[in-house]
Amino acid sequence: MILLFSLLILSFEGFSSCVADFDQDVSSLGAFSLHGVGAYAAGFYEEMEGDEGDLLVRSIDQIRNFGGRSNEKVVSVEDYGAKGGGADDTMAFEKAWNAACSSDSPVSLLIPKGNTYLLKPITFSGPCNSDISVMIEGTIEASSNPSDWNGKNQRLWIYFNKVNNLAVLGGGTINGNGKVWWQKSCKVDKSQPCKDAPTALTFNACNWLRVESLNVINSQQIHVEFENSKNIIVSSISISAPGNSPNTDGIHVTRTQNITINHCTIATGDDCISIVTGSQDVHANNIICGPGHGISIGSLGAKGSIAQVSGVTVDTAQFSGTSNGVRIKTWQGGKGYAKNIVFKNIEMSNVKNPIIIDQNYCDSKKPCGQQKSAVQVSNVQYSNIKGTSASKFAINFNCSKSFPCSGIVLEDIDLVKNGGGSAKSFCANVKWSKEGTVIPPPCALQLEDA
Ligand SMILES: *[C@@H]1O[C@H](CO)[C@@H](O)[C@H](O)[C@H]1NC(C)=O
Ligand SMILES: *[C@@H]1O[C@H](CO)[C@@H](O)[C@H](O)[C@H]1NC(C)=O
Repeated sequence: MILLFSLLILSFEGFSSCVADFDQDVSSLGAFSLHGVGAYAAGFYEEMEGDEGDLLVRSIDQIRNFGGRSNEKVVSVEDYGAKGGGADDTMAFEKAWNAACSSDSPVSLLIPKGNTYLLKPITFSGPCNSDISVMIEGTIEASSNPSDWNGKNQRLWIYFNKVNNLAVLGGGTINGNGKVWWQKSCKVDKSQPCKDAPTALTFNACNWLRVESLNVINSQQIHVEFENSKNIIVSSISISAPGNSPNTDGIHVTRTQNITINHCTIATGDDCISIVTGSQDVHANNIICGPGHGISIGSLGAKGSIAQVSGVTVDTAQFSGTSNGVRIKTWQGGKGYAKNIVFKNIEMSNVKNPIIIDQNYCDSKKPCGQQKSAVQVSNVQYSNIKGTSASKFAINFNCSKSFPCSGIVLEDIDLVKNGGGSAKSFCANVKWSKEGTVIPPPCALQLEDA
């Protein structure tokens, strides 16, 4: 830290106005608050470029205040050689991350506005020495050459691993350049083997995380994934990919607890949000979804696995033209549970399966068949759900014969067929109750598959 400090002083020699400013702020804000360093001029910044060995810092005041952390110092990827404009910037980003992550005071890693940086698969590993913000103001674009993943994990592009107290924000864009991967997908070209493609942005084992104000587009596969993480706020994320792009889920949550997803607009070729095993206390509020496959809990219990999901709330969402609205999907033969789930205040517009529990989910070439075990679905509340269904069954509870769905509550539902006429309910192996008006009327209690 002292070394860093003197480097700064050295860097600022000859800029007397800056130094004066700097000293004053240092005394008032503590030895390593760099408020005021921002007095640097654009020309000075040019001079700093290429000086890759040093940790170069400047005040965030020059960029933007956020989160009350305006005294943070800033490390720019351009200070470490990132150029933008099509050359490979991976190494510059890695060096800049290492510098920022080893900072002894809160730090911001800046990806500046106005440039497009090309990245191969990249890992940002923690733990870091201090709170860290990644300010993505410009555009980050993935290499469009799948061979850049040779010998690497095919499921990862930008990977944050074990970073606590992390914020990723800035209003910029992350572009997965997914077209070349979609064309190779076995869902698009049946002659291809089924292989993983990268998730654009993955957070693994990150505790106290904020992801805010980003555009994530055209991911190779899943757009944003949270795994093995805790205490997360996601807000104002816009995600988009073509409606026919394969497996391009918007936000995927797995083995993660206490996550709130607010004010997100998601249009993709798969689930807008998918919540899978090990997830608990997941809240999605103010979500706009479509095109896509809706908001899904699952799939759960594939290949006889044990799934555990509880405490999920979806409150205030709009679905338009999606294949599902709110869905719970489990495979035959799984174990465990999905319970304590609330879907409320939802508008559906031309949605194929507005309300669906599918315990016969089978996303494989071979039929899955009846099995003796199932993931138990219980305590699911559907409240204030209105709009139009694109298919006959606006409510579809297709539950397991061996473990019927229980504690299903319908309250204030008004779903009609798109274009007019009434919709229907389908029930197999489900115990439900209703409050208020429910349209279409739920089918008679039926414990055997019809
Ligand atoms: C859940 O996460 C949020 C956001 O990080 C945090 O403010 C809140 O205290 C956490 N709740 C619990 C019970 O840890
Ligand atoms: C219920 O699940 C069975 C088994 O997969 C399927 O054949 C049937 O079409 C489903 N019914 C409805 C109405 O979705």
